[in-house]
Amino acid sequence: MKTESNPDQIIIIFDTTLRDGEQCPGATLNVDEKLVIARQLARLGVDVIEAGFAYASPGDFEAVSRIAQTVGTENGPVICSLARATKGDIAAAAEAIKPAVHGRIHTFIATSDIHLQHKLRKTRAEVLEIASEMVAYAKSFTDDVEFSPEDAGRSDPEFLYQVLERAIAAGATTVNIPDTVGYTTPAEFGGLIRGIQENVPNIDQAIISVHGHNDLGLAVANFLEAVKNGARQLECTINGIGERAGNAALEELVMALHTRRQYFNPFLGRAAESEAPLTQINTREIYKTSRLVSNLTGMLVQPNKAIVGANAFAHESGIHQDGVLKNRLTYEIMDAQSIGLNDNLIVLGKHSGRHAFQARLKELGFELSEDELNKAFVRFKELADKKKEITDWDLEAIANDEIQQAPELFRVELVQVSCGSQSCPTATVTLRTPTGAELTDAAIGTGPVDAVYRAINRVVNLPNELIEFSVQSVTAGIDAIGEVTIRLRHQGRVFSGHAASTDIIVASAQAYVNALNRLHGAVEAETARGAAQTKPVEAL
Ligand code: KIV
Ligand code: ZN
Repeated sequence: MKTESNPDQIIIIFDTTLRDGEQCPGATLNVDEKLVIARQLARLGVDVIEAGFAYASPGDFEAVSRIAQTVGTENGPVICSLARATKGDIAAAAEAIKPAVHGRIHTFIATSDIHLQHKLRKTRAEVLEIASEMVAYAKSFTDDVEFSPEDAGRSDPEFLYQVLERAIAAGATTVNIPDTVGYTTPAEFGGLIRGIQENVPNIDQAIISVHGHNDLGLAVANFLEAVKNGARQLECTINGIGERAGNAALEELVMALHTRRQYFNPFLGRAAESEAPLTQINTREIYKTSRLVSNLTGMLVQPNKAIVGANAFAHESGIHQDGVLKNRLTYEIMDAQSIGLNDNLIVLGKHSGRHAFQARLKELGFELSEDELNKAFVRFKELADKKKEITDWDLEAIANDEIQQAPELFRVELVQVSCGSQSCPTATVTLRTPTGAELTDAAIGTGPVDAVYRAINRVVNLPNELIEFSVQSVTAGIDAIGEVTIRLRHQGRVFSGHAASTDIIVASAQAYVNALNRLHGAVEAETARGAAQTKPVEAL
């Protein structure tokens, strides 16, 4: 991890998009997608990446291990794996983070009475012992051990102090205080952190971290109060994705600390007027990271979302527009440039060659395989024929699409629709199946997309319910690429799909097939593993 001369004066950003963020329904990512996100998180400048929960599944283990290998470099972020407080979990986490230059094991056990009685069925004395023993066990693999008392927000503070003291004595270098159910209010959460500072005798030997969910919409406010009371690590996710209402949003925390640094400076022992950033985040990478995570997880960003929503920097009313034209500061507290919103440069055109295309993708952080690159280049040329100027966002849309394909599964070969005011929408589709065969079918529907989806269903034959469908344009202009994001449900599980094309019917077909591929992959994996192993990871 990048070190600061005085760690008390900097806020550590711990990103858990790939672990807690991925726990939200439908946000499941494959290993390649996780790698792309991890590389972008490193470019964004996060200090720690919680890359997954290594013990949870072979896929999670592989993701943590490959991220540790490729992103966990000398100057890169710390790569962390979550582990319940058991030897099996901790050993798996240790093995997965091994390739990283800086690796961390994050182990946890619940401390609230409600969790002890109903979930763990353990006494406080037992939990104290387990926490201490398992931190010591984790410490036998790495110096960097984080301990979390799950549901700290609803735990008895006196018991919490004891558990934290024991965990630090056993070697925890970070103690993380989770508001697991998003229950606390800012004043309470700040008070909890102050209480820990004042009542845990060895707290000076660990960094206090906070983790929180947004059930009452208070996660970011709680964290900012925690910072004022001594927290120096914030656990957050891009776009605030995560279990239920999500986690604290990284972009909101970082921009609050950045925009209001003069307010926060004194709480970190700095001079109020200091302009030095409070985090090591390169804020200009925020918008791009948000788009990437939204595209790959299929979790759309609401237009009025703070910092990264489509309307976050838009001024609609005449009075506001007039004010901003006279002086931006009348209605803007942040510069859109500071989150990289205007970095969508026109970079390539019809005459750009493969080399320039590949070089720009590399600068944008995409490392495509030879095959992916060939396909992406063909799509770029097709797009350049239709659209004079190709921007970074267009390139991202193409590259994301290629990364998301699972070539061994279904692939759209042809989509043809006939529709209009006087006709019955009819679609014909040809899909390349997992065995390499091409299958064609046709259907009618209430509209062209419905007809296409019905035709695809006739080929794929995987029952599902479409629960979300959205089309957004990547850039302005009538020739813009349209991005389609869909979510579907199969036996209670949600799968998302995303695709981009200047033809939104084609993008709709590809997004649907993309989601069906994920569904198909999950069904196959479960069949291969056998029902017994597909149970969710349980509490201790
Ligand atoms: O919300 C929570 O309590 C967690 C812990 C595992 C840190 O995610
Ligand atoms: Zn959590």
